[in-house]
Amino acid sequence: MSPSITQQSVEELGGEASVLVRQRRDHAELDRLMNLYTAGSQAVEGRQQTLEDIIQLTFSHAFAEETVLWPTLRRLAQDGEELTSRVEQEHQEINNLVAAIERTAPADPRHDELVEQAFSLIRQDIREEEELLLPRLQEAVDHDRARLRHLGTTWETVRRTAPTHPHPAVARRPPGNAVAGVPLSAFDRARDMFRAGARDPGTRTIVMGSAALITAWLARRTRANH
Ligand SMILES: [Fe+2]
Ligand SMILES: [Fe+2]
Repeated sequence: MSPSITQQSVEELGGEASVLVRQRRDHAELDRLMNLYTAGSQAVEGRQQTLEDIIQLTFSHAFAEETVLWPTLRRLAQDGEELTSRVEQEHQEINNLVAAIERTAPADPRHDELVEQAFSLIRQDIREEEELLLPRLQEAVDHDRARLRHLGTTWETVRRTAPTHPHPAVARRPPGNAVAGVPLSAFDRARDMFRAGARDPGTRTIVMGSAALITAWLARRTRANH
């Protein structure tokens, strides 16, 4: 069994472009942001922005895992089904918790309790991936650097266009997640831009326009599916 990816050098993991190095980098960034939020040293607005950054990174990162990495692990590793169902279940729990956080006002005492629960699940998810799933993936592709790099670029491409917020009805596995994920991702990213550019009237008009179009498209699609 390969050691945890935290104990291997960049070279052993397949180089800078390898999916294992990219995963480790994102996990470290999530850890840094969660520590920053928990330290409570930021002003209210900055702290909310940190939480927003954690949510965006967590969801795009996990969506790309579910789309690119876990199907590969199921195909190549004998215990892939068991390993990936567990991590998908964790992703679903994180999804539900973050949806509850987004429905709760930051001043509500339950808000930080929910955040704490979500952070502890995110940390558990990271630990399992670094110690178990990613070393199994490394073995499953025979430590082949080209394959690890290829998985890295594919994962990164999906991550850059993935949804950035929880969506309770989205399936955790392809093709269901991808079918729902594409329009949701456009909607999420429009909303992120709107929040970031809320003070600029030009940006606000463009973003509100696109968000309205996407919402109308989603409503039509939901009606068509019923
Ligand atoms: Fe991960
Ligand atoms: Fe994950």
